[in-house]
Amino acid sequence: MSQQTVNGDAFENLLHEERHFPPTPEFAAAANVHEDVYASAAEDRVAFWAEQARKHLTWSKDFDQTLDWSDAPFAKWFVGGEVNAAYNALDRHVENGLGDRVAIYFEGEPGDTEKITYADLTERVKKAANAFESLGVRKGDRVAVYLPMIPEAVVTMLACARIGAVHSVVFGGFSAEALRSRIDDAEAKLVVTADGTYRRGKPSPLKPAVDDALAAPGHSVEHVVVVRRNGQDVDWTQGRDLHWSELMDAASGEHTAVGHESEHPLYILYTSGTTGKPKGILHTTGGYLTQTAFTHSAVFDLKPETDVYWCTADIGWVTGHSYVAYAPLVNGATQVMYEGTPDSPHQGRWWEIVEKYKVSILYTAPTAIRTMMKWGREIPGKYDLSSIRVLGSVGEPINPEAWMWYREVIGGGKAPIVDTWWQTETGAIMVAPLPGVTSTKPGSAQVPLPGIAVDVVDENGKPVPNGHGGFLVVREPWPSMLRTIWGDPERFKETYWSRFEGMYFAGDGAKKDNDGDIWLLGRVDDVMNVSGHRLSTTEIESALVSHEWVAEAAVVGATDETTGQAVVAFVILRSEVEIPEGEDPSAVLRTHVGKEIGPIAKPKHILVVPELPKTRSGKIMRRLLKDVAEGRDPGDATTLADPAVMQQIAADLRK
Ligand code: PRX
Repeated sequence: MSQQTVNGDAFENLLHEERHFPPTPEFAAAANVHEDVYASAAEDRVAFWAEQARKHLTWSKDFDQTLDWSDAPFAKWFVGGEVNAAYNALDRHVENGLGDRVAIYFEGEPGDTEKITYADLTERVKKAANAFESLGVRKGDRVAVYLPMIPEAVVTMLACARIGAVHSVVFGGFSAEALRSRIDDAEAKLVVTADGTYRRGKPSPLKPAVDDALAAPGHSVEHVVVVRRNGQDVDWTQGRDLHWSELMDAASGEHTAVGHESEHPLYILYTSGTTGKPKGILHTTGGYLTQTAFTHSAVFDLKPETDVYWCTADIGWVTGHSYVAYAPLVNGATQVMYEGTPDSPHQGRWWEIVEKYKVSILYTAPTAIRTMMKWGREIPGKYDLSSIRVLGSVGEPINPEAWMWYREVIGGGKAPIVDTWWQTETGAIMVAPLPGVTSTKPGSAQVPLPGIAVDVVDENGKPVPNGHGGFLVVREPWPSMLRTIWGDPERFKETYWSRFEGMYFAGDGAKKDNDGDIWLLGRVDDVMNVSGHRLSTTEIESALVSHEWVAEAAVVGATDETTGQAVVAFVILRSEVEIPEGEDPSAVLRTHVGKEIGPIAKPKHILVVPELPKTRSGKIMRRLLKDVAEGRDPGDATTLADPAVMQQIAADLRK
C-alpha cells in the first residue's frame, strides 16, 4: 500500500464542528432503540447478537453456539442454526397475514409502475426458485446476475437464496470483460440478465455484454435467462438462452423453503482492492441477515407498518444487497425501487417519487446530494417532501455543507441524518448515529453501533486519544463480516488481518474528535472512491497499459467537488507507436478503460506525459501526481530521480 498516510491537516477544521442536532423528544420517545441498547450490548456483546438473531429472524433450527472464533480470522456465527433468507424475507410475512402489504413500489425509468405485494413477491420467488432448479441449479452452485434495477433482480437474488445457490451480482455498468472475469472466478453455472434497461429515455443494452463475455469458450455457464425489459432485438444462442417469462409461466408457484446452515454462502460480491484483481467478497446467511436486519431497524428507525423506505442504490453494489434486497424485506418494509437516473426526464424526478409514494426514509449517497445542491434548492422546493422523517447517507464522507443542505432542504430542518459507515466487506452498517439517541453532527458518522468494536489506532495499533487521527479498525468479529475472499483465504488474511495484530483493517483513515466521535477521512490505500463507487488505481493502470500504445501509466484519485474523487491518469506512450492522424490518445484510452472495466472507471482526465515522477529506486510518486491533479504545487520533489519531471508535468497540465 503506497499511500498509507493520513492527511490530517486538511480535515483539521472538521474537529471544531460546534453544531449538534439532538433528536426531538417525540422522535426519541417513539424510537425503536434507546440509549440503553449500548449498555446492554457492552455488557455481553455475543449475547446481544444472539438476542438480535432470534428477534429479527425466524430460524428453521435454533443455533447452539453464537460465535466460534477458534479459527480466527475465519468466523462462524450462530453455529448449528438453520435459516432460509427467502423464507424470512417473504413467506413468513404472508403467513403472518401481511400478504397484502406492498413490498415494492417499482418505478420504471420510462414511467411504468408496478405495485408488488408480499404475496405477489413470494409467488414470483417461488416460481423463479422452481425455474432455476429445473435448469439444474443446486445448493452451492453460483449464479451470475447482470440485471438493471427491476423487480426481477430482487426476485433472482431471493430465489437463489431460497434454494441455497450463491448469487454473484455484477453491476450493469461493468464491461463484458469484467463480467467474464467474475463469471470465471465464481464458476457460475447460470447467468440471469435482461435485454437491457433505459437510460435517460433511451434503451440501453445489457444482453450483448453477456454474449461478448461468453463468446470465448472455456466458461462454466450452461444457461442464460433473459428478462424482456426494453424490447430491443438481441442475439439468441439456441439451447443456451431462455426467456424469463416462458420459464416463469411454466414454473409452479409452490415451493417449500428449507433452512440452510447459518454459515451457508449467501452471495459473492466483487469489489476493487489494492491489486488489479477484484476480490470476491463472500457473505454467509445467518450473521449477515441478523446484522442487516438489526441495523435497518435501529439506524433508520423503521416502522414497517407505516414507513415507505427508499434506498437509491443499485443492486450491483453492497448497499443494494443489504438495504434493498435483504434487510427491508426481512423487516417487512414497503420500499420504492427506481430504475432510472435522478435527472430524467427532469431534475425533480427523485422528489416527484418521494411526493408520489410519501417516502418517509430516504437512503442515498453524498455525491447525489452534492449534485442536487448544484441543481438548486428550487427543484426539490417544488415538491411536498413533508413525509420524510429519516435521512441516510452512505458510500463516502459527507461534507458538512452537503449534510446541512440535506437536512434543511430535503429533511425540512427536522429529519435526523444518519451518516452510515460500512463496506462491502462489513456487510452491514458499522458506524452511525442512532436517530432517536445520538445528537447528530454535520459530517461525522460518529459512533460504532451497539455490539460493534470499531476503533481508531495509530501506526502501531494503539488507540489514538480524542482529537487525533489514525486508521479505522474493528477489534472483534461481527455477524455480517465477510467470511473470506472467494477461492483465496490467504489473500483474505493478508488484506484485512495482517496490518494490525488481531484486528480487521478497513483501509480507511479516521479521526476521533474531542467528544470521541469518529470522522471518516477516506481511503489510505490505492482504492479510490468516485461517486461512492470503489475503484482501484492498480486496476485502471493495468487496463491502460493493456493498450498497445501505452508504455506506463499512473492513476490517482483527485478530489472532486461533486463525485468526491475523480480518476486522473498520467500515461507515457510507447515511443515507437505512430498515433494515426486525427486520433486523440486520451479519448481512445478512455474508451479502452471503459471496455476493459466499464464506463464507471473511465478517467475524467488522461494526461500524456513524457516521464513519470519516480524515486531513485524506481517507485512512482503518486502523491506528487495527486498534488498536481488537485492543482497544488507539488512541493518537495528532491527525492525524485529527475526533479525536472514534475515541473514539466505541471506545465503540461496548465496547458
Ligand atoms: O472509504 C469508505 C467509504 O466507502 C468504502 C467502502 O466502499 P464499498 O465497499 O463500495 O461500500 C460502500 C457502501 C457501504 C469505505 O472503505 N465509505 C462508505 N461509507 C462511508 C464511507 N466513507 C465515509 N463515510 C461513510 N459513511
